[in-house]
Order: sequence, then structure tokens, then C-alpha cells
Amino acid sequence: MNTKTAQAPKGTRYGTTAIPNNRAPYAKNVIAVTSGKGGVGKSTVSVNLAIALAQLGYKVGLLDADVYGPNVPRLTNTDLEKIRWNDESKIIPSENYGIKIMSVALTTPTSDTPLVWRSSVAVSALIQFLEDVAWGELDFMVIDMPPGTGDIQLTMAQELPITAGVIVTTPQLLAADDVSRAIRMFESIRVPMAGLVENMSYFIAPDTKNRYDIFGTGAGERLAQRYNLKLLGQIPIDMKIREGSDHGEPPVALGSDEQKKYYQDIVKAMLEQVAFNL
Ligand SMILES: Nc1ncnc2c1ncn2[C@@H]1O[C@H](COP(=O)(O)OP(=O)(O)O)[C@@H](O)[C@H]1O
Ligand SMILES: [Mg+2]
Repeated sequence: MNTKTAQAPKGTRYGTTAIPNNRAPYAKNVIAVTSGKGGVGKSTVSVNLAIALAQLGYKVGLLDADVYGPNVPRLTNTDLEKIRWNDESKIIPSENYGIKIMSVALTTPTSDTPLVWRSSVAVSALIQFLEDVAWGELDFMVIDMPPGTGDIQLTMAQELPITAGVIVTTPQLLAADDVSRAIRMFESIRVPMAGLVENMSYFIAPDTKNRYDIFGTGAGERLAQRYNLKLLGQIPIDMKIREGSDHGEPPVALGSDEQKKYYQDIVKAMLEQVAFNL
């Protein structure tokens, strides 16, 4: 990382992916969680990874960068909170389950208010969330990225030195081009990759305990091999994960030991995979 630009003052010019700015000098590490498509569990994984890091004693912030589909407040039971400012005119982030949280959903009258913003406005809002939120010192800033390979991903990679990228996908999508595109975007903008999370990997019937590989098996390993990525973990389809998430009760905090372990093991693998600044 270029330390000269990393210390660029506020209001500085936009960075480039080769020489990113550092709009979050208070964060020792930045983890970008992304996917090729929506609906694969990216927000669920982001929230639970962030909480799992906090459970290890790290100071963690979670930035909801999916401005057009901000789900983080609902997943963390902070969706009724409204934006507040401190004496220094900095936005006070929400806090729950041991992590600090910022989302555009906190700035809208209701959580289902649509944001009809051009992407330049969305990008400015996110830069403001990096610069004008009282995050305090953080060991990790986890970013729940929007799906795909658009403006917001590019801006985040230009305005932050991303320490590690995590790709979330389902086995069904593993063969699809969308995942490859997300991986190759990270590659081309030189974001170091922590690895791949295969979500909704299989289903264990609660009554018979039979395992069903609804979307087939082995796809995660094949993709990891093709792109030389670590398969950080496989999370099954679990009704309790869906229910808990819908009620703002993250499985890693309030689920069974088994559910906690899925996310805690992924964090362990991630911490082993990347030389984080700690
Ligand atoms: N492992 C899982 N088992 C069951 N449901 C899941 C699992 N992971 C995510 N979900 C559910 O799938 C839906 C999409 O997940 P979400 O995290 O919002 O995806 P994304 O952010 O990629 O759009 C949500 O209803 C969520 O609760
Ligand atoms: Mg989401």
C-alpha cells in the first residue's frame, strides 16, 4: 500500500485501484464481502462474520454498502433506529451484538423506503459513512457489498485499502459466470482474496437427518481450485438461520452451537489465510 496516499486528507481526490485512498484510517483491516448475485446470503454471512470477529475480542464495524437493498439493520435488529449525531457532528453508528453498524436504511423514514439515487449519490453517501461516522478505532471494518461488479465495488476498492475479499456463493451459482466475474473483478483491481464461502451447500432434513445435496456437490472445491482460492467453509440450508436472521437474531450470536460453529470456523479459516494487521 502506498502510505503517502493512504494518509491523504479528507476531501481528497478520488483514489485509483492501483493507489487507493484510505478513507478509513481508523480501521486496521477492511474485509469486503461480495457475490456475483443477490440472494445468496451475502448479508447474512457479513453480519455473522462481523459478530464472530467481535466474539474473538476484536473491535468491529459493519458497513452496509448495499445501498439499494440495505438488509443489515433488519438482520441486526437495529431497523427501528434513526440516525443520530454526536457533539462533533459525526454520525453515531448503531450498535448491537458487539459490533458498530452503519446503513443507509438508518437514514430513511422506514426500512422499506426505496432509495432512488444515481450511483454517484450512492457513492458519495458511502464515502460519508466512511468519513463522517464516529466508528472509533476498529480492528476490522466489514463491508457488505452490493451484488455484482459495479460502481460501488469499484469505488470501495479505490477509496479503501481492502485487506481481504470474501466471495459468497451457492453451489448452484458456482458454475455460473456471475461468480467468476466477481472473483475476476477482485483479481483485476488487485484485492487480496481471503477465499470463498459456499452458502446453502446442503440440507439436513430435521426429521430424518438425511442429507440432501440439493444443488450437487464439489462445485465449491472445483471453483476454489480454478481460481486458486481457499474454500473457507460450507454453510447448509437451515430454516433456523433464515428464521433467526429475519427476526434480527443472528445465528452466530443466538443460534445453536452447531450454527455458531459454521461462522466461527469460517472466521478462523479467514484469519489463518490472510496476514491481517493486528
Ligand atoms: N444458510 C442459510 N440457510 C437458510 N437460509 C439462508 C441461509 N443463508 C441465507 N439465508 C436466507 O436467504 C435469504 C437471502 O440471504 P441474504 O443474506 O439477504 O442474501 P444477499 O445479501 O446475498 O442478497 C435471506 O432470507 C436469508 O435469511
Ligand atoms: Mg444483502
